Amino acid sequence: MGSAEVMEGRDRVRRVACPGSFDPVTNGHLDIIGRAARLHDEVIVVVGANQAKDNLFSVDERVEMLREVTTDLKNVEVGTFRGLLVDFCRANDISAIVKGLRAVSDFEYELEMAQMNYRLAEVETLFMTANPVYSFLRSSLVKEICRYGGDVSSLVPELVLDRLRTRLAVG
Ligand code: PNS
Repeated sequence: MGSAEVMEGRDRVRRVACPGSFDPVTNGHLDIIGRAARLHDEVIVVVGANQAKDNLFSVDERVEMLREVTTDLKNVEVGTFRGLLVDFCRANDISAIVKGLRAVSDFEYELEMAQMNYRLAEVETLFMTANPVYSFLRSSLVKEICRYGGDVSSLVPELVLDRLRTRLAVG
């Protein structure tokens, strides 16, 4: 490869998407977002707004929490998408999707989506292994534990903890 080709590659903005439900954002999500932000020029965190799940927080609330907890990450933006993720990627010049893998159990589902997204629009998926400290962490567990009075203070940012306690009406 000649140096011109190398420079051409360097000049391109590497914009990636970190998609998810983020209901709500956890420290595990933040770890992946922060690490993705160190590796790429721009990271667009996108909340999926298709109506499939019974969420605790509205899309706007999830976006607001994500914006607040990523304010220090200057190359991170937060948005939403409806419909197919690959259509959002194509419309926003996003070359790759970044996903965190916590355990082998995540892999089968994620592999299927990654292959389908490539088949649909040649959008790449990059997997980052979760920090082992957070390998057991998922939003649904956080909500359940909080609902029944368990301590989730080390698993979510402080402002998310406050919102969770208010929404679930626990002390
Ligand atoms: O945090 P989640 O629930 O694992 O996020 C899943 C999400 C929103 C990333 C995924 O469901 C998605 O990409 N939905 C958009 C619809 C789509 O593109 N479906 C085809 C996938 S191959």
